[in-house]
Parts: sequence; C-alpha cells; structure tokens
Amino acid sequence: MSRRFEAPKGTFDQLPPASGSRAEVERIMLEQARLAGYQPIETPIFEDTAVFARGVGEATDVVQKEMYTFTDKGGRSLTLRPELTAGIVRALIEHGRLTTGLTKVVCSGPQFRYERPQAGRQRQFSQVDIEAMGSNDPAIDADVILVGHEVFRRLEIPVTLLLTSLGDPVCRPAYRDALLGFLHRLGDQLPAEARARAEQNPLRVLDMKDPRVQALTADAPLMRDFLCNACKAHDQAVQELLAGAGVEWAEAPRLVRGLDYYVRTTFEWQAKSLDAAQNALGGGGRYDKLAEEMGGPPSPGVGFGIGIERVLIACDAEGVLPTPEPHLDAYVVDAVGPEAGAEVTALLAELRETGLSADRAYGGRSVKAQTKSADRAGARYVVLIGRAEMERGAVAVRDMESSEQVEVPRNRVVAWLHERLDTKPEVLGQ
Ligand code: HAM
Repeated sequence: MSRRFEAPKGTFDQLPPASGSRAEVERIMLEQARLAGYQPIETPIFEDTAVFARGVGEATDVVQKEMYTFTDKGGRSLTLRPELTAGIVRALIEHGRLTTGLTKVVCSGPQFRYERPQAGRQRQFSQVDIEAMGSNDPAIDADVILVGHEVFRRLEIPVTLLLTSLGDPVCRPAYRDALLGFLHRLGDQLPAEARARAEQNPLRVLDMKDPRVQALTADAPLMRDFLCNACKAHDQAVQELLAGAGVEWAEAPRLVRGLDYYVRTTFEWQAKSLDAAQNALGGGGRYDKLAEEMGGPPSPGVGFGIGIERVLIACDAEGVLPTPEPHLDAYVVDAVGPEAGAEVTALLAELRETGLSADRAYGGRSVKAQTKSADRAGARYVVLIGRAEMERGAVAVRDMESSEQVEVPRNRVVAWLHERLDTKPEVLGQ
C-alpha cells in the first residue's frame, strides 16, 4: 500500500465551493484598498531572518518562538515571513521608494507562525495588508482605518474598533519605567511568566489572559496618561477625523500588540460574534521608526493586516458568508459524437473569446448525463449540437431557468447569447 499524505499540522486546504467564498472576501478587501489608492506589491515569502528579527522585534513571541527559520544550501539563515510589514518596508527601502512623497501599497498572501493550532489560529494563514509610508499626517491613520471599516461594513460583520496610542520614543520610556516600577512592586505576587515578560517588554504583561495577572495589574499606569503633547495632538486629530467619517471606536488603553514596531496610533478590529481566542480579525498602527531601524531613510508609516481566515470565520458566524453560485453562461452539449468534436471545441473557443464563461462534458456521455452536468455547473443556457440542427446550420439553445428551447442559426448563436445575457461581446486580450 502506498502512503497517503495529509496537509501539515496547522495548515488547511481550500477546496470549492468554500474557496469561492474565500476568493470573494479577498476580492472585496483588495477592492477597498484599490478604491483608496493602494497599489499592489509582492515581496518574497521568505526573507533574510534578520529582516524579521530587526523589523518585528527580538523580544516578541513571533520572533522568539514562532518563526519558521531554516538554513539554505548556501548557508544563509532564511525565515518564512511571519507577517508582511517588515518585508514590505525592506522592499521599499531597497528600491529607493521612501525618499519622496507617500507610498501606498497593498499585499495579500500567506504567512507562517509556529503557533499552537486552534480555531482561528493556524500555522499558515493569510492577510490582506495595506501600508502607507512617507507621512506622519494623522489623516493617513484615518485613511488606513477607513479602508478596514469599509471592508467590515461591506461584508456585514459587526466589529468593535479598539483604538489607543502607544506613545513614541519621546514619551514611552518614562511610561515604561513607571510600568516596570509598578510591576516590580508586585514582586512575587506576579506569576513567573509575567515577571519574565516584564523584563523583556513590560507592556506585554498588560495583555496577558491570566485572570490573576489581570486583577493584579488593574491599577497599572497607562500609556494614555503619559503621552507627550505631540502624541496627544496626533491622537486627538485621528479621533476627530474618524468621528467626522462616522467611524465608531472604543478606547482601549490596555491594547498591546504582539509586534514591537508600533508607535502612536494602534488599533485592532474585534468581531462581536466570536470569542476572545479568535475575535481579532485584524489590526495595525503606526511604525514611524521602522524604516530607520531597518537601515532606511526616516519614513513614518502606518498600516494594517486583516486575517482572511478569521474574517471567513466571522462571516460564517454571522451567516453572511458570500457563497458564489457555481455559474456558467453556457454549456455545450454534444448530441452527435466524435464527428462534432471540432465543432464543439470551436464553439467553446468562440464563446470564451467574447467573454462568456462556457464549458462542456467530456468522455462521450449521453445527452441526458451531459444536461445533468450542465445543471450541476450552474449553466444559464445549454447549447445543444444535434445532427438535424447541424445539417440546417443551426444549434438548439435551452434556457435552463424556463426550460424553453429555441433553434438559433449557428453563426448567430454567440451574439444571440450576449443579447439574452445582456452582455457585450468583447474580444478578450485585444
Ligand atoms: P497581527 O495582529 O499579528 O498584525 O496580525 C493581523 C491579523 O492576522 C490578526 O488580527 C489575525 O486576523 C491574523 N492572524 C495572525 N496570526 C494568525 C494565525 N496564527 N492564524 C490565523 N490568523 C492569524 C500584523 O501581522 C501586522 N503586520 C499588521 C500591520 C500591518 N501593522 C501595520 N501594518
């Protein structure tokens, strides 16, 4: 017996028809980004390990525990991208795109994190990610948030937008010291894991799920109370712009994200219908120092990543999963056999050339079986090639909704279908 294989743990296959819902969700996200002026960018799925160690932050769980790192045959340390931002920033620096003006890009694709698989958490997952680099105007923060807002509105997923400011290198050090002092005073009351986190990144203690830690840190100092004037003004401006656009948010002074590059505006969208383990549908914020930290010119940036699989789970929970019907404009049924083969193939080519979706059955099956396949494929019209019709230079066309059947001259059938479908014949590719 030969061995059967399974997809690796924490990965998944996407097969029709579920893959159709996924494609539709991704299409809507990309369309919203395009409508806001974000242009497509592609970067490699693996990068020099240092891109993520430096970009995402050495002290993060992502870098410390979750990276798929390997040495290639040339002895280089490479890592499958655990997120998209660091690779995009590397690419924009490398190609000299951060020296003038604003750059708005959008990317969609897989990422890899060695996490414990559970509902909504996989080792391979995908995001649609947008990044705007080159300006610290708070209007860009609002622009980025609005793109996500529109995505969730169009998909009809009720979300809460959590929003906070994480300060900047001017005001955060004093806050960090105050928080660390607070945590040190708790001493042994804090579990060991929290004490270890406190030494690496004290902010990460605030987002621990352990109820003991949450109770002990209920009165911890908050970044909000330490913001410098410039950060306060930025935060205020973002809030005013969002309010002006009718976007609601909840202030989330304890929001901490798992990546180290954030400054100032930081946000997350949570699905109202999902539990805490999987309700983070997407998040992002500003990363004004990242380009410099990665050896580039100063170039403030802001962006988000929205998880496609999580959004699909939320759509499903809300009963709003887009389910594209299998659909074909036409299905060619061959009632003649091998001698009509060339005619069937020519007709299919002609239909597709003019922009109609069309298919046929294969393997010389009966007319009844072919018509059944047409039905299953969701065909709107069946074009039947019969011997008698062929002799008259015609084909029979059946409307699969009304079951009405008419004879149409062969040389008119493509135009006839376009008329009925209210589409314009276009010669694709010209
Ligand atoms: P992130 O919060 O790490 O941010 O990930 C964004 C989204 O990706 C999450 O909200 C979630 O929907 C999805 N996601 C993350 N990990 C997993 C997983 N293991 N399984 C399934 N879905 C997952 C970032 O990655 C930042 N790069 C976002 C960003 C862009 N910030 C600025 N620009």
